Amino acid sequence: MRPGPKSQITAAELSWDDFPERGFARVEAFATEYLKVPKGEGALSAFRLRDWQMEVVSSLYPTDRPRPRQALLSIPRGNGKTGLAAVLGLYGLFADEVESPQVLVVASTEMQAKHVFNAAKRMIELDDRLAERAHIFKDRIETPHNSGVFLALPATESALQGYDPTLQIVDELHVVNRDIWEAVTSASGKRAESLTLAISTPSDSQESVMWDLVKYGRENTDPSFVFREWAAPDGCAVDDEAAWAIANPALGDFLHVDAFRSTVKTTREAAFRRYRLGQWIGSHDSWLPFGVWDARAVDRALVPGEKIVLGFDGSASGDSTALVACTLDGHIVPMNIWNNPLEAGWRVPRAEVTAAVDGAFNVFDVVELACDPWGWRSEIEDWSQRHGERKVVEYNTGFRNRMGPATDRLYAAILDGSMTHNGDKVLTQHVAQTTAVQTAIGAIVQKDKKNSPRKIDGAVAAIAAWDRAAWHTRKKSARAVSF
Ligand SMILES: Nc1ncnc2c1ncn2[C@@H]1O[C@H](COP(=O)(O)OP(=O)(O)OP(=O)(O)O)[C@@H](O)[C@H]1O
Ligand SMILES: [Mg+2]
Repeated sequence: MRPGPKSQITAAELSWDDFPERGFARVEAFATEYLKVPKGEGALSAFRLRDWQMEVVSSLYPTDRPRPRQALLSIPRGNGKTGLAAVLGLYGLFADEVESPQVLVVASTEMQAKHVFNAAKRMIELDDRLAERAHIFKDRIETPHNSGVFLALPATESALQGYDPTLQIVDELHVVNRDIWEAVTSASGKRAESLTLAISTPSDSQESVMWDLVKYGRENTDPSFVFREWAAPDGCAVDDEAAWAIANPALGDFLHVDAFRSTVKTTREAAFRRYRLGQWIGSHDSWLPFGVWDARAVDRALVPGEKIVLGFDGSASGDSTALVACTLDGHIVPMNIWNNPLEAGWRVPRAEVTAAVDGAFNVFDVVELACDPWGWRSEIEDWSQRHGERKVVEYNTGFRNRMGPATDRLYAAILDGSMTHNGDKVLTQHVAQTTAVQTAIGAIVQKDKKNSPRKIDGAVAAIAAWDRAAWHTRKKSARAVSF
């Protein structure tokens, strides 16, 4: 069939008299009655929503409470993301009993948005009753009976302007950036009920809007946000077939286990874990495994007079400069991180840094200030004169024999939970940007590339502060024992 408008729609409106009035049972009845599997396993048979799919559908279309505004399903490849999205899109277009429904399929590229659109189009073509009541165009479907429209759009602010969607579907959220996500969510909300539904495999980066939403969903405090995650248990063996089944609800159904058995041998482990096991593994050379830093955030501020050790990593010019505190019981709190706002000619406000150092000494019981001396020798001399030579010491963060073991000790503490931090956003960002090369003397942290604007100075200062605080704690307890 050539795309384009049909001359006139003469078919009568579809009758929903025998259908449940609303809610998930209506979605199920619509799928079974009108939709067929468009391709692949079970092609052309009636589209039967599986139990696990119905669980999702019932949380999106409840009958006893308001519908959610946003939903995120994190699920590995091949479990029918696109198919489910097409079913819900068509339900929203034909059967949701709202006047002028607008279903928008948005993705980072038009190509990606077209996957759901094409599946929906094909499903309409496979049922005469639907095909007679819809105009199918290249990138839109119209249903004149209810003034409905179903559109595939590139997710940009300008493309989304002027719509008033009842349902927005984001296929593969992991490639969507924050600007796009904000454009999508700000397009919705004008109606009493409107849902933004994202379906995706995990992203490869902690700096993704998807990771932020996964963290939010895992907290599970917002009834207007539905989150469901299918993932193999952390730390499972990559070839553990029981773990495959946990992560892949369609395995053994329309997803074939022999495909897994052959790809596990030929796929890089990180890729297999992400795409097939739904696990967050991050980029392979990032210093920390995904999510562990975030898990150590606690709501604890420093108390005036508290004993702290300060780590300082200053930049001579355009980099960022960090002053980070660590308590003697292992709680990390940045005093300040001066980030270059990426302006040419920006210089660290040196007087402000000195004021912050002085302020810390005034407010807290500073046991030691460990400073990377590069570019800051005259200030360090000045600080040491004011606050005591024994307290202001040089800590060369370029000295690998010291930094490697220090970095590994903080790493171990982050992993085993013996450290905490206050969740500071800038420090968290610096830690996320920190990559590492493994060497015989420990991990050497570095930026993702030389001259990269992705700064890590906060992480370096935290390692120095942690290292020296641990040293002072050991010294104290050794003395306690010898007394
Ligand atoms: N109940 C069902 N739900 C979803 N898909 C089904 C179902 N039954 C059969 N299928 C078929 O299974 C296949 C699932 O593929 P689909 O493209 O929807 O998965 P996906 O998760 O989007 O994959 P990818 O990660 O490659 O984008 C399709 O061919 C679909 O038609
Ligand atoms: Mg898909």
